[in-house]
Amino acid sequence: MSEAGNETRFLHAIEMGLGAWQWGDRVVWGYGQTHTDKDIRESFDVSLNLGVRFVDTAEVYGSGYSERLLGQFLKELDQPVLVATKYFPWPWRLTKGFIPWALKASLERLGLDSVDLYQVHWPSPLMSPETMMEGMAECVKRGWARTVGISNFGEKHMLRAYTTLGRHGIPLASNQVHYSLLNREVEKNGTLARCKELGIRLIAYSPLEKGLLTGKYSSQNPPPGLRGSQYIDLLKKLPPVINLLQEIGLKHGDKTVSQVALNWLICKGALPIPGAKSARQAELNAGGAGWRLTDEEVARLDEATDNIREYRKN
Ligand SMILES: NC(=O)c1ccc[n+]([C@@H]2O[C@H](COP(=O)([O-])OP(=O)(O)OC[C@H]3O[C@@H](n4cnc5c(N)ncnc54)[C@H](OP(=O)(O)O)[C@@H]3O)[C@@H](O)[C@H]2O)c1
Repeated sequence: MSEAGNETRFLHAIEMGLGAWQWGDRVVWGYGQTHTDKDIRESFDVSLNLGVRFVDTAEVYGSGYSERLLGQFLKELDQPVLVATKYFPWPWRLTKGFIPWALKASLERLGLDSVDLYQVHWPSPLMSPETMMEGMAECVKRGWARTVGISNFGEKHMLRAYTTLGRHGIPLASNQVHYSLLNREVEKNGTLARCKELGIRLIAYSPLEKGLLTGKYSSQNPPPGLRGSQYIDLLKKLPPVINLLQEIGLKHGDKTVSQVALNWLICKGALPIPGAKSARQAELNAGGAGWRLTDEEVARLDEATDNIREYRKN
């Protein structure tokens, strides 16, 4: 295995990460209203203190503000943090040369010489996985990215990315996809199984289904803003799932609904990266790791959520 091959191992050792989409995002997350830089800093500090040292950001989060904020935090830190960021394939940046160029700008915002994981944020009908991976390989060769990942890639595109990177002796480190008890598409369409087979770490985004799997929202009390309309149907099906999460949590020394939901993902072999708007949320989320549900509990949660939505076949 090449040096880059050995490098991907660190991702498999991480149980839990911290999502940084909330850092500066006003449209979905209400940055400036529901949380401020102080809350973000506190959630970051609490996470580190509780052993969560992997932060997932992107150049588009808060139009670069999320990366800038993380850069500020890192400057004041004397302990290592693993940093993942992402390239967005905007229609005006579709040749491979744009990828190292965009990473350079991310590195400047982050105040770093390299990131631990550089991911392509979304596939694009205008840019092939091969072109994307040529650009990503260049980032590794320049020493600006330790490892390469993709995000929102289905199995076929993932295999094309895997093969292209393989020609450069670079393993595909991760695929970051939507995965929670309320969205099990990656289990049903084979992506999770394929990731395991190929040693690709599956990173689970929106692991709390944007707050639904915390028990605080219901049809009578929907989440604010865009999330409220996005989840009208799902909220109606939520109560039995929350009841079961509560029941299981009680058997594990009073674990919360969100902690059980995150632990279910860990048991499935995924790496959850919940977002947090406060120190308290970050503290609770960190408590989703470091223990395990029983196989029987995982099976009960599977059964309770099997038919919660329809899944496409690949
Ligand atoms: N690659 C991609 O395309 C993609 C897409 C989406 C997300 N992501 C990444 O994945 C990360 C996580 O996903 P996400 O932010 O969409 O959703 P999430 O982690 O499922 O939910 C985060 C939200 O849930 C609420 N929350 C979190 N912990 C809580 C707790 N312990 N108790 C009560 N409420 C809690 C907070 O919102 P409220 O307090 O407002 O309810 C928080 O903003 C993002 O930050 C980002 O890094 C990537």
